[in-house]
Amino acid sequence: AGLLPFEHEPYFNFAERNVAEQQREAFKLVRQKYVGQTFPLIIGGKKVDGDGTFAVHNPAKPAEVVWQFQKATPKQLEEAIADAQAAFEGWRYSDPMQRASIFKRAADLLRKRRMEFNAVMTLENGKNWAEADGEVAESVDHFEVFARETLRWAAGKPVYPMPDEHVTTIYEPLGVVACISPWNFPSAIPLGMALGAIAAGNTVIWKPASETPLSSYLMVELLFEAGLPKNVIQFVTGTDDVLGDPLVDHKDIRMIAFTGSKEIGCRIFERAAKVQKGQKWLKRVIAEMGGKDPTIVCADADLDEAAAGIVASSFGYSGQKCSACSRVIAEESIYDELLQKVTEQTDRLKVGQPEDNAQVGPVIHAGSAGRIGEYVQRGQQSARLVCGGGATDNFVEPTIFADVEKGDPLFQEEIFGPVLAFTKAKDWQHAIELANDSEYGLTAAFYSRDPHKIAEARRRIHVGNLYINRKCTGALSGTHAFGGYGMSGTNAKVGGPDYLFWFLQTKTIAQKY
Ligand code: NAD
Ligand code: ALA
Repeated sequence: AGLLPFEHEPYFNFAERNVAEQQREAFKLVRQKYVGQTFPLIIGGKKVDGDGTFAVHNPAKPAEVVWQFQKATPKQLEEAIADAQAAFEGWRYSDPMQRASIFKRAADLLRKRRMEFNAVMTLENGKNWAEADGEVAESVDHFEVFARETLRWAAGKPVYPMPDEHVTTIYEPLGVVACISPWNFPSAIPLGMALGAIAAGNTVIWKPASETPLSSYLMVELLFEAGLPKNVIQFVTGTDDVLGDPLVDHKDIRMIAFTGSKEIGCRIFERAAKVQKGQKWLKRVIAEMGGKDPTIVCADADLDEAAAGIVASSFGYSGQKCSACSRVIAEESIYDELLQKVTEQTDRLKVGQPEDNAQVGPVIHAGSAGRIGEYVQRGQQSARLVCGGGATDNFVEPTIFADVEKGDPLFQEEIFGPVLAFTKAKDWQHAIELANDSEYGLTAAFYSRDPHKIAEARRRIHVGNLYINRKCTGALSGTHAFGGYGMSGTNAKVGGPDYLFWFLQTKTIAQKY
């Protein structure tokens, strides 16, 4: 009953003049409506101020402060958790159909405002139109998918029968879930985690990344407008010393849903393992972390297709996706030809303002540009720079290094910018070995038309999301359940058929007739 017909939200075609004009108008609207505003915390359903504010900058014009957000105090964090806990006592028994209906209404509301949400995202995280649109469309998909998943999980699961007992297995929510998210997908990632929690009947502390809080704030307001009781989400922004460890450590937090770096994910995993005084459960943690995602190109592959996929997945949103291709591993016999094709296409990419829909925009901030620059500097001692290498302010040129050895940091470490390493493999089996030579295991792409090689790739490539003959970015909710192996995280698989299980506990009820 829950699995109604479903179609992914189609993207806007910005090549059509009137569609592009509408997006430009949306930027004007967003600049009038939001720029210069200060946005509140939402605790206990009330909009409140914290102790001072912090500025959100436009990564493409770093001197431009687009909006301000509040810094929550430790006392406000306590209040938010207490309110979420109180709200749980009601929401846990809410009708799944009510939850699903709220998500369906939210999907409709978001459809009408997609271009506005796109523009907000561009101004705070530097995505160009298509990248922002892809993410907002994914958010619509999340609403639709989670509406259906709510109903599917509410139905319980069958058990092997007993002659004299009626036995049922049902799923119940956990409690207060802290949802902690990164800046690179400021709408779809916090939304996916929060919908997982809410769909299952939990309540949420929603803590967005400080670089990109408005994309989150608008999503929370949209959910309230769609009918979500206001206490079900507590929206808190501020500094990591107040909202980091203290939130994770709090005895009344039942679960942490985190997406972000390996460093913080591991920290949360460790800290959450400690049972605090008065804590009545073992905390559950999902932590989805970084990637060092390879594209493997076999000698028999369509090299033009492979090159197009590599360029799109390496340099889309300046390589700032956990799913981005950052390693190309190619068979020796086609290595030079592929490198040349990728380099030619990369050279043609235009770096510029995301608000004008440039192909490649800025990285998130100067700190990130500096860190990427250090990799590029060091890389020139160990590998051959064939493309890019420069940077102006936050704008880092798409950069390619060739002949990268497997021990090189360019091969092993997540750079999280537009830097691609090319590595030569003796043959396709060696290419698979090299691809697996990583602590991460998030996404990978494999290009070949040979059924035997494809079968081996399917068996042996150690990642959560493997794409054959297509690029390794752009997972779609409900279809490409997303989450990695190894140090890429707990493999919770957002948007997949088992995601809600992470937010539930199972009760078996055996009743004698
Ligand atoms: P980050 O780990 O620096 O920050 C993520 C969130 O954690 C932020 O909201 C931050 O305020 C918060 N935080 C910081 N210190 C904390 C603490 N001590 N306790 C609890 N929370 C704390 O990551 P980022 O720079 O925002 O995002 C980039 C990273 O995210 C990359 O590594 C990328 O690969 C990863 N990522 C992974 C996925 C995935 O699905 N696997 C998706 C997107 C991004
Ligand atoms: N879910 C995003 C992608 O697949 C990160 O590219």
